[in-house]
Amino acid sequence: MASPLYLLLLFIAFAVAAAEGGATVCNPADRAALMSIRDALTEPYLGIFASWTGDNCCNRWYGVSCDPTTGRVADLSLRGESEDPLLTRSGRSGLMSGRISPSVCLLTHLSTLIFADWKQISGPIPSCIPSSLPSLRVLDLVGNRLSGPIPSDIGHLSRLTVLNVADNQISGQIPSSLPSLSSLMHLDLSANKISGSIPQNFGNLRMLSRALLSRNTLSGSIPSSIGSMPRLADLDLSNNQLSGPIPSTLGSVPVLSSLYLDVNHLSGPIPAAMLSSHGLGILNLSRNAISGEIPDVFGDRSYFTALDLSFNDLKGHVPRTLSSAAYVGHLDLSHNHLCGPIPNGSPFDHLEATSFAANDCLCGSPLPACH
Ligand SMILES: *[C@@H]1O[C@H](CO)[C@@H](O)[C@H](O)[C@H]1NC(C)=O
Repeated sequence: MASPLYLLLLFIAFAVAAAEGGATVCNPADRAALMSIRDALTEPYLGIFASWTGDNCCNRWYGVSCDPTTGRVADLSLRGESEDPLLTRSGRSGLMSGRISPSVCLLTHLSTLIFADWKQISGPIPSCIPSSLPSLRVLDLVGNRLSGPIPSDIGHLSRLTVLNVADNQISGQIPSSLPSLSSLMHLDLSANKISGSIPQNFGNLRMLSRALLSRNTLSGSIPSSIGSMPRLADLDLSNNQLSGPIPSTLGSVPVLSSLYLDVNHLSGPIPAAMLSSHGLGILNLSRNAISGEIPDVFGDRSYFTALDLSFNDLKGHVPRTLSSAAYVGHLDLSHNHLCGPIPNGSPFDHLEATSFAANDCLCGSPLPACH
């Protein structure tokens, strides 16, 4: 006859097995939501949805993982280009068409939502996401064909650290609520059809370290509030239609290391603080209408892996202090209106004539000697 102790031990053994075997039992509502998400998508080559069978969506459903204590779906992470054995075995990158079902908004405990690099997922970003998924930390929809706007109330996602919708066909403006994303660290809106201006209070994103907004049709001026972003390390606003001056505050972003403003309609002078900054290693201002002289403010702590000021309206001399820079890797001052002798010095030793081509009257090595 089974003693009570024996029964208790048996119960504990089952409970432990259930917890260890990944057998957190899937919430039925979450399972139903996943089914409608699957039904809105077509993935013809890899068969990733073949694993989405049975009742327990927390157990070995490809790309799905649950919070072990609540049994609620916490991560939905499907990447078309990854190191996953399923993809490496197939020897091809993923392809998926269809839409992101608004049923994602029924996964109310979601912390990660990734549909990345499936190339052909189309339709809108479900507008219910910001109001329905308060725990969302990562929203990564890069590399599809999503269209329509970024949900206007995106700023509600107070825990969001990553927002990546790059390489889609997103249109409309940057929502005015976006600067309230107080946890945002990585923002990538590159290569879409986003228009309008960058919100003036963009600098409110105090945690942001990468802001990649290139290859859109953003217009208006660069907000000077960017100068007060304590963690901003990479800013890419290239290939837009931004105009007006470069705010002088951009020289005082404390940890800025790369700044791409190339291919815009920016005018006015180069802020001196930007060139005397010790942290900035890549500066590309190519193909704007920047005018005035190049500030003569380089020093022995200036270290530029790339400094591209080509195709602007710069005049005056090549700054003398540039020859005292610790390092200048790639320098391009071509297609401006510079004049006079090119300084001597180690940063110039390895440079070729193309770095200085098509100016008004530059001379000296690597160009022909001055007369
Ligand atoms: C700077 O931008 C221009 C225009 O987009 C590009 O052609 C050039 O290669 C860039 N320079 C560097 C050093 O990346």
